[in-house]
Amino acid sequence: MAPALLTVENLNKSFGGIAATDHVDLIVEAGEIHAVIGPNGAGKTTLVAQLSGELRPDGGEIKFVGQNITPLAAHARAHLGIARTFQITNLMLDMTVRDNVALAVQAYAGHSFRFWADARCEERLVEPAMAALARVGLADRAGSIARAMSHGEHRQLEIAIALATEPRLLLLDEPMAGMGVEEAQSMVAFLDGLKGEKTMLLVEHDMDAVFALADRITVLVHGKVIASGAPDEIRGDAAVRRAYLGDEGPLSNEESG
Ligand SMILES: Nc1ncnc2c1ncn2[C@@H]1O[C@H](COP(=O)(O)OP(=O)(O)O)[C@@H](O)[C@H]1O
Ligand SMILES: [Mg+2]
Repeated sequence: MAPALLTVENLNKSFGGIAATDHVDLIVEAGEIHAVIGPNGAGKTTLVAQLSGELRPDGGEIKFVGQNITPLAAHARAHLGIARTFQITNLMLDMTVRDNVALAVQAYAGHSFRFWADARCEERLVEPAMAALARVGLADRAGSIARAMSHGEHRQLEIAIALATEPRLLLLDEPMAGMGVEEAQSMVAFLDGLKGEKTMLLVEHDMDAVFALADRITVLVHGKVIASGAPDEIRGDAAVRRAYLGDEGPLSNEESG
């Protein structure tokens, strides 16, 4: 059998004696949307940071298509095809929308920052940047200064940045955070359109979005996986309901964290 796209085994990470990631096992199969849910402080962002390589685990192993990538730095993992977006926006607000994406393409290509002034006009950077913007529906905003865009458009732009490098695995940390109902719905529709084409690990608080999109759901509480399975299994799981969803049904308005 072919190896899973991503396999996490016995991953551990503590901060000052608090286990943020506690013996986590996780498998993400190619093509799926795998949601990771859990209350604030459950360790979701810490997990994403270890997958992208920004944070070193204390122990355990991360495999990408069967290869042990645990010792690899973030840029090396990016080159293997792992891209992430951030819970807190990470954009160059005084640059144009197009240049934000072109800069990411350039950074990925490994060119030095000091050539940036010339690189803005370079076709081999602008072309993939424009293609990524078109994919998220922002092509007509390419010339706008990023600061002038709405919160929802900023989140779309972040996804364009992640997509511009053609990753095999997209790590999304709360892409709907801070969005209004309409913006969230259009983000769900967008991610649904990307489904099957890109494998996604989706950290999200919006339970309507999670249950609309996810093929599998893993539930973290205090750094531990308490359940992992298909959406219907998770919905019916007694431990999940006790720890997280509540007996009233899936909650959808929890503050993001
Ligand atoms: N850099 C850090 N230093 C110390 N503690 C941290 C750090 N990052 C996260 N934590 C702690 O680790 C736990 C998990 O945090 P986090 O991964 O941000 O949770 P989530 O994204 O699920 O809300 C929390 O108790 C948080 O306070
Ligand atoms: Mg978080």
